[in-house]
Amino acid sequence: MCGIIGCILYNKKAAPVLLNCVKKLEYRGYDSVGIATSSSIIKIKKDSGKIDDVHENLNLDDLPGDMGIAHVRWATHGLPTKENSHPHTDCKNKIAVVHNGIIENYKEIRDQLIKEGHQFKSETDTEVIPHLIEKYMDMGNDLESATRLAIGNIEGSYAIAAISRDEPNKVVGARKESPLIVGKGNREYFIASDAPAILEHTNKIIYLEDHEMVILSDEGIEIKDSDGNVIKKEIFTIDWTPDMAKKGGYDHFMLKEIHEQPEAVKNTLKEINEIKKIVQKFKKFNRICFVACGTSYHASLIGKYLFEGLIAIPTDVILASEFGYSAEALDENTLVIAITQSGETADTLKALKLVNHKAKTLAIVNVVGSTATREADYVIYIRPGPEIGVAATKTYVSQLVAIYLLAICMSGKEELLEKLQNIPDYMRNALEKEDLIKEIAMKYKDAKDFFFIGRGFSYPTAMEGALKLKEITYIHAEGYAAGELKHGPLALIDDDVPVVAVAPPGKSHEKTLSNVEEVKARGAHVIGLGSSEDEVLKSEAHDMIEFEDKIDEMFSSIHYVIPLQLLSYYISVMKGIDPDHPKNLAKCVTVE
Ligand code: AGP
Repeated sequence: MCGIIGCILYNKKAAPVLLNCVKKLEYRGYDSVGIATSSSIIKIKKDSGKIDDVHENLNLDDLPGDMGIAHVRWATHGLPTKENSHPHTDCKNKIAVVHNGIIENYKEIRDQLIKEGHQFKSETDTEVIPHLIEKYMDMGNDLESATRLAIGNIEGSYAIAAISRDEPNKVVGARKESPLIVGKGNREYFIASDAPAILEHTNKIIYLEDHEMVILSDEGIEIKDSDGNVIKKEIFTIDWTPDMAKKGGYDHFMLKEIHEQPEAVKNTLKEINEIKKIVQKFKKFNRICFVACGTSYHASLIGKYLFEGLIAIPTDVILASEFGYSAEALDENTLVIAITQSGETADTLKALKLVNHKAKTLAIVNVVGSTATREADYVIYIRPGPEIGVAATKTYVSQLVAIYLLAICMSGKEELLEKLQNIPDYMRNALEKEDLIKEIAMKYKDAKDFFFIGRGFSYPTAMEGALKLKEITYIHAEGYAAGELKHGPLALIDDDVPVVAVAPPGKSHEKTLSNVEEVKARGAHVIGLGSSEDEVLKSEAHDMIEFEDKIDEMFSSIHYVIPLQLLSYYISVMKGIDPDHPKNLAKCVTVE
């Protein structure tokens, strides 16, 4: 949801550094890009389109000055055009601002500013900010005070970076409900939407809280609270390396991240002692309530089957965006588990806020220090490393492992831990099916609709397979409980609709096979996922992805998702889509 960067460097041109940093944020939005630097005047280059294309036309790194701001946009207000691209400026082009978030009352502010004589050039909500800053600077305030006054007018969410021609050695940043971090390098200072963007320059990170402001200058970093008092903040050292945020020889981040999954799972498994420590602090809960969005929601659904199966605790899974609409019966005996890889998803953060200490909260998160980790009572880090591809892959399997570890620790059934140790090997075997999956992708890439079906633990896997396909191939796909097909969607099945049946050995296997027969009887082509010893599925399916392990469905969800990720990836590439940057989407959804 838009990425922002600001920096003050020492004896170095800012534009190439800003360009490099903002490229790392392209996963947050790729509708447009823009850079502003300041020396004696503010110079801006910006346009709609992906960074590489815009850079080819505009030489984005060719701007003077050792300080500046940059932005990648995920459009909310106004089409992705040059005019709507950030940075936005005031009437006199002496102030430039980049913004991530949504200003809910921008219309009223804009109307008022127009009455006061301000002239607007874009359709964005953001443009009111430089004009407000201009108004307050014209009243005699410096950039910092004018920015503080400007954000005092704003309702909604923002992470901003502002510069002014009148104070050419200053970048002012502020946040409310959108992420903003501060990086402390060697006489170089940064603000950014997230840490991987600036890792090549520093791994010393400060996390800003809502209503805090940061002032970068030649003299260093100053952080202030909403009243303007200087505050001291902890500096965290991030253990992610810059290489982790590079493609490492793969064509796309998504493919790299799919292949990193066995390692990701191993890293999550190492968190067992941390999880045990957290569980020791737990009182006895009588209800679990997961809140999450998208792929993290699918991981939570697996959590429901696990917690109810292993501990017999009633477990609800609620889409974070729906959390505020159900009368949540929360009390001190409830544990609310928020699953979010980014730790910055607005819907999930809102749900955590709504819990409002009525229940205990646990966040299962990837990004260290992200907002969710500061909102929740307890935190489990999943540790797969940074995920850049918009489609969640390695963070999903790591979330699953964290949920398995948590459920096992809470149930006291530690003998089950052994089963998880073999999963990385099963995942490697699944990755070896890549060539077969490419062939299957070629065969079905032109289908207009897909169904993914499964029962029990395989139902969320089917939903995740369908989400991946929709997200990066733009093919309509439904993830359905296999037994529910006959209650409606079976009417849609014919020989144009491939059906992916997730059918590992176990309790649900036999019934899933009956559902396979039902769809076949309506002409569907079936792609089966099951055991290499499953002769029935092998004979029924038109295409079969075999797993040599014989592990029960309860532990199958982690490695059975891999062929589904690869299938979507290859169909996406075959259709000429960039799977790392699917249209209309962004990695981190910081608007509700
Ligand atoms: C998954 O491929 C998507 N990019 C999306 O559904 C994502 O899982 C969702 O937005 C939640 O993100 P989070 O885990 O960072 O909260």
